[in-house]
This record gives sequence, structure tokens and C-alpha cells, in this order.
Amino acid sequence: VRAVDIIIKKRDKKELAKEEIEFFVEGFTRGDIPDYQASALAMAVLLNGMTPIETTDLALAMAHSGDIIDLSKYVHVAVDKHSTGGVGDKTTLVVGPAVAACGLPVGKMSGRGLGYSGGTLDKLESIPGFRADLTTEEFIQQLINLGLVVCGQTADLAPADGKLYALRDVTGTVPAIPLIASSIMSKKIASGAQAIVLDVKVGLGAFMKSLGEGKKLAELMVSIASLADRRAIALLSDMNQPLGNAVGNALELKEAIDTLKGGGPQDFREHCFQVASQMLVIGGEAANEEEAHDRVFKSLENGSALDKFEKMVQAQGGDASVVEQVEKLPKASLEKTILSSREGFIETVNAQTVGEVVVELGGGRYKKGDEINYGVGIIVRIKVGDKIAIGQPLVSIHANSEAGIRMAEEKILGAISWSDDPVQPLPYFYGKINQGIGETGMNQ
Ligand code: URA
Repeated sequence: VRAVDIIIKKRDKKELAKEEIEFFVEGFTRGDIPDYQASALAMAVLLNGMTPIETTDLALAMAHSGDIIDLSKYVHVAVDKHSTGGVGDKTTLVVGPAVAACGLPVGKMSGRGLGYSGGTLDKLESIPGFRADLTTEEFIQQLINLGLVVCGQTADLAPADGKLYALRDVTGTVPAIPLIASSIMSKKIASGAQAIVLDVKVGLGAFMKSLGEGKKLAELMVSIASLADRRAIALLSDMNQPLGNAVGNALELKEAIDTLKGGGPQDFREHCFQVASQMLVIGGEAANEEEAHDRVFKSLENGSALDKFEKMVQAQGGDASVVEQVEKLPKASLEKTILSSREGFIETVNAQTVGEVVVELGGGRYKKGDEINYGVGIIVRIKVGDKIAIGQPLVSIHANSEAGIRMAEEKILGAISWSDDPVQPLPYFYGKINQGIGETGMNQ
């Protein structure tokens, strides 16, 4: 086999065999197949697609390009959750501790911000001293000792995906459903979770802009999990408007802490209840969603989830006193609340624009390795469907310069659209995809 023949085959819209995919991934990982050939194949896949079988073969080949952790040797079952990325998505910070407090070990490898979509590690690193770069050994030890660990992906997991993702990022080949599904699932399979809840975001602020695309991605990932002998369920959740109110690293961490204390914005709380409940059910810790919901509720009410969070922060070298003294978290030097100059109903709050503004304020990166400003961000005080009066607060901008405040004010006001007539609130979820059962609706 020659790499070029595999590229030609995909260029000509033919189906690749498992052996061909494995040959390509192995050669690319070793460095025998150069970047330009991997980029050409990625583009051929973006243009011509892959079947579910090819996508699964690609996910498994990338998972096997490095170490595969077998967590079943250490804990009875390890659950994981993965969000396809969004704006204001601080779900892991709440559901990880809540699920762990209910007795189910959560071992999660998270990512950093990608474009305008935020990353869990950046949010955690707004805590002074917090270490996200654990070794595989440390990851396993903390999972055994505490039942909760959230860290970065270790270098020896799915290295083929790391290399390919870097190429995709600069060759316009990120938004290909087979490449996204295999990229995400290769890492989930390699990091050892036996049960995975996939939170597939759909809407203006998500990779998947339409429900149809979101469903396709969700179905593919769930079927890859089945073929890799892992339990999985996918939720399709709204990402047209930001999740919760806070967007920006330290602001989101603070909102997550509020939620762990039993407060938090209604939509974010509901989202966390749903994701955490699915984790408890799929991990075999609760018999059904009602029982799971009750247990998650109790973990937030009785402080056990908050306690898990504090212990995780401590175990990873962070200053856990921020939980009680959130004012210790990084803060921007300026804050301005924008009041409404009109009345009406909120029709859109474009999540992507809000995310982009936070990156521009310094809360995200334009290129790998850029320094992040943890304190900046936006508190969005409105939701689609809200009836707003003149003078009511719309958003609060946290920035480090007057120019930043002006930029954010102009762009955020442009991200909000209005209607004189009542507007339906957005649903939190659009459905879920079960293994072997397919799609079902969801109670809200
Ligand atoms: N997240 C990933 O890990 N990979 C992708 O391709 C897209 C989002």
C-alpha cells in the first residue's frame, strides 16, 4: 500500500478498508507519512465523507496510536462526559463533583478553549496554583483516592489525533463530521472511561449549527462507542444563546461554585441535572432518571458536591479557599452594566458573538500558547423570550480597558435581536440518542 493510493481512493469517493486506515494512521503517527499527505486525506474526507464503519475504524486506529488506559483495573466503573464545545459551558465543573459525590468515579480529560468556545482547563486554571498537567499515574491515583479528577490530555494518549487536529486547524478541515466524531471518540476510548455522556451542542454558538448535523454527529459517536464496547448516550442541547449567565474563565468558575452551593442560573442548573443524571444512570449508580435527579439534587443541597470540588482543587495544587472567598479569583479592572434603551422581547443572543467578544477581551487565545486573561468576560443577564423594559440590565462587561468596554458594548448589542411580539423561550434540550435504541424525545 502507498499513502497516495489511499488519498486517491478517498478522492474518488470510495470506501477505505480498515487495513488502509490503520496503515495511514500508523505511518502518520511515526512520521513516515508527511503532513501534506495527511492534510490531503483530511480534505478528501471533508469533501467526500466517510461511512460509519470507516469513521469507527479511524477512531479506533487513532485511539490505538498511543497508550490506552484501562480504568476498569482501578475502579468499578469510570464515567466521563464530553461536550462538543460551546459558550458559557462550565458543566463539567458542576457535574463532575456532583456525580463523584453520588459515588460514581469521574475521570475526565478536558481541553482548552478552541476558537470562541471556552475550555474547562482554562476555567480551572483561573484558580491560583491549579495544575491541569497530570501524568497518567497521577490521573489514576487521584481517581482511586478521590473519585474525581479533571486534567489535560496526557501526551501519550491518541497522539495521531493531536497531530491531525493541528493540521485540520490550519487546512480548513475541522468541520467534517467523520473527523470530529473520530477525533472526540479516539480520546474518550484511550482515556479509559467505560461509560460516556456526550453533550452535543447545536445552534449559533456550536460547531453543529443545525439539529440535523448535531443528530448525525451524536449518532456516529454513540455507534463508535458501541463498536468499542463502551456505554454511551448523547444529549442534543441548545447552544444558540450562552449557557447560564457567565462567559469568561473566572466568571464561569464563580457561577459553577454558586451552582455547587445550590444556586446558579435556572438553565444551567437544569442542564447540569440532566447531564449528571444521565451519567449516574449510564454508570449503573442510579436505577432511573428520577432517582438520579434526586441524588444529584441532594449532593448540591447537602454540600457533598462542593466538598468534592474543593478536594479536587486541593489535590491538584490549587488554592481551595477560593470556594469560600470567590473574591480571590482574578478580576478585570473595569465593569460596566449595559441598560436597555428599548422595550420588547429578546429574540436572539448570538452565543458565537458573545464567545468572540470574550476572546477579544483577552479571555481566549488566537494561537496556541497565547496568555489568557482570566478575569475578563461577560455576564449575560437576558435569555431568549424575556420581556425587557427600558432601563433593565442586559449584560455586564468585565474588561481591562475602556477600549475593551466600548468594543464589547458595540458587538454585544449587535448580537442581541428584538421582537415587539412575544418570543418562545429556547428549549434546553432537543433529544437524546441511546445505544441501539436511537433517538428519543426528552422531558424538560
Ligand atoms: N473537539 C475535538 O476533540 N475534536 C474535534 O475535531 C472537534 C472538537
